[in-house]
Amino acid sequence: MNIAPIRLHSANFKSYNKLDSKTGLSASTSFYHDFPVLKKSAEIIEKEFPNGTDILIYAGSNGEEALSTASLLKDPKKYNIFSIDIFKEAVDFAKRGIYGIHPLAEDGFLINKNKTNGEKYLTSVFYKNFKETKQPKESLDNLTDMIFSLRLGSEELFPQKYFSPQDSIKRNVHFIEGDIRDISALQTPYKKAGAIFFRNALYHITQNDLTGVMKYGDSPNLTLNKQQVLDDLVKRVYDKLDIGGIFVLGSHLQEHLYIADKSVPQDKTVIADRARNIRYMSYPPHIMALNKIGGFKPLFEAEIKGMGNSIKLPLIWQKVK
Ligand SMILES: C[S@@+](CC[C@H](N)C(=O)[O-])C[C@H]1O[C@@H](n2cnc3c(N)ncnc32)[C@H](O)[C@@H]1O
Repeated sequence: MNIAPIRLHSANFKSYNKLDSKTGLSASTSFYHDFPVLKKSAEIIEKEFPNGTDILIYAGSNGEEALSTASLLKDPKKYNIFSIDIFKEAVDFAKRGIYGIHPLAEDGFLINKNKTNGEKYLTSVFYKNFKETKQPKESLDNLTDMIFSLRLGSEELFPQKYFSPQDSIKRNVHFIEGDIRDISALQTPYKKAGAIFFRNALYHITQNDLTGVMKYGDSPNLTLNKQQVLDDLVKRVYDKLDIGGIFVLGSHLQEHLYIADKSVPQDKTVIADRARNIRYMSYPPHIMALNKIGGFKPLFEAEIKGMGNSIKLPLIWQKVK
């Protein structure tokens, strides 16, 4: 019997795990990533700004987060949603407006048969706002997970499906290149924003990358003052937000547990890994920055898990004064 060998081929279109060729940082995302946080944010925005506002989704990557948020609003027409990312290739991808959904990706439930109740709800919201489309010809490779593109002979083992957003959500979402550190220069219709998202990217600007850290003092950049970076960011976000507006964070471990480098005295650290003497800063510097300003109130908590740790931390902060 002749059995065709399994072989890897280079998938030619995907919307996850792209790496910025300049920085090496990941633009990885998916539809409805951290769904409870997105849903809660949409509810708060509608309650606080029933007649409309600007929603600034920084670290918007390829646009999945902005489109997911738009699909969760009861009346997205009222809101101007900006999906903003520093990585040009991701923004170009978003403007093209075709997304590959892979059955093994985090949002693969959208095309798979077996679903939980929550996934059934999201799938119905998704299909109301997206239509299936043909595989595009353009290639946009940056593949890091080859398992996604296994072939048996000429047959793909895990075929993707392709989708485009419908006008119902598309017309209010604008994709632009930009850096959250320049937020004060951003011109938007309402001037002050009702919501600023910066999810799963705080660790990019603070270089709080846990990969490759083998012992206390490894890896992080000693010349970068993380507290200063976060104080500056939080101040800029505070100035751009309207009263009642929200600042939304991600739930990635690296967003909240800051690896302590040698600039942090040992008595201000907690041990994360005894064998390797890996330590975290005992007080998360972004929470320190948010508390210092005095005008933010934590509104919604989530459990952050990883490396044997589990803590509850606020992910949605409201500007109250
Ligand atoms: C891991 S992805 C997170 C995507 C999405 N927010 C999510 O949570 O699924 C991080 C994204 O942040 C972007 N980014 C990093 N620093 C940024 C900055 N200073 N301003 C805007 N975007 C930034 C990266 O280019 C990347 O697309």
